[in-house]
Amino acid sequence: MTFDERYQGYLSLIEPALSAAFASQRGFEFDGLLDAMSYSLTAGGKRIRPVLTLEFARINGLEPEKALPVACAVEMLHTYSLIHDDLPCMDNDDLRRGKPTNHRVFGESTAVLAGDALQAEAFGAILRSALPVEARASCAEILAGAAGVDGICGGQYMDLSAEGHALSADELRSLQGRKTGALLAGACMLGAAAAGAGEKAVETAGQYGAQLGAAFQIRDDMLDVMSTESELGKPIGSDKRDRKSTFMSLYGEEKCARMVREITEVACSTVKGIDTDGFLTELAGRLAGRRK
Ligand code: IPE
Ligand code: IPE
Ligand code: MG
Ligand code: MG
Ligand code: MG
Repeated sequence: MTFDERYQGYLSLIEPALSAAFASQRGFEFDGLLDAMSYSLTAGGKRIRPVLTLEFARINGLEPEKALPVACAVEMLHTYSLIHDDLPCMDNDDLRRGKPTNHRVFGESTAVLAGDALQAEAFGAILRSALPVEARASCAEILAGAAGVDGICGGQYMDLSAEGHALSADELRSLQGRKTGALLAGACMLGAAAAGAGEKAVETAGQYGAQLGAAFQIRDDMLDVMSTESELGKPIGSDKRDRKSTFMSLYGEEKCARMVREITEVACSTVKGIDTDGFLTELAGRLAGRRK
């Protein structure tokens, strides 16, 4: 099976599951909230995090179908983080996944609630899954770690607090490790944990995901300068407008490109023993050179 065939195979599980996610809750006064949640959840996106969850589940011996609720959970949590990231009180952006941002369509208060509900429903999806209860508990703990103070919320706080002043490389690494690296690491760990893998396997998954995340955010910062809105599906130039500290503002394009290559190599080396057919290595390489 080629890389593209496997990626497409995962998408063919993930997309219908996300589309159907809240179908049973429809028909009440809060349909408008579900509309806002589904709008962002089904707007597209690369689905890297749920793909990672399914691949790490497979590597650790669990059929991807059985890990699907956990994969959907990580994408719900990611989508919540994007909805909130775009709010006027945060990055104040108007375009996401090629469409107007959630608050532009549904208004700010509904966008806040859509994000809140997606975060809660992510944990619900894990806890209601048919996985053994211990695997569910591990997955919930991993997702909580990736979402909270040591993850997205801590990182986003640091990101917003730093607007208008330059951070050191160490501070930036810590910020980006939380706001982006933690959920990519979490996505990988979730797959292993869903499969009931031991501590060592979960740790290896987390190391790969954290390195992948570090390279991913540097590439994201590069694309904010180098890409186009139509290719990226989100605005460019937001970081400069908001006077964000990024690796691009610190080092410029050439050094960032080198850092992405080097960190990607480290990511690949962490999974040498388990990536027997090269999917994780190919994925890391593609993300390093991604255009969107
Ligand atoms: C965007 O993530 C936010 C960052 C962490 C940089 P993605 O680039 O994975 O966004 P989608 O899910 O494909 O829209
Ligand atoms: C935010 O980073 C990452 C999140 C936790 C959502 P950015 O603010 O750079 O993400 P984009 O560029 O808006 O997708
Ligand atoms: Mg941001
Ligand atoms: Mg943003
Ligand atoms: Mg960005």
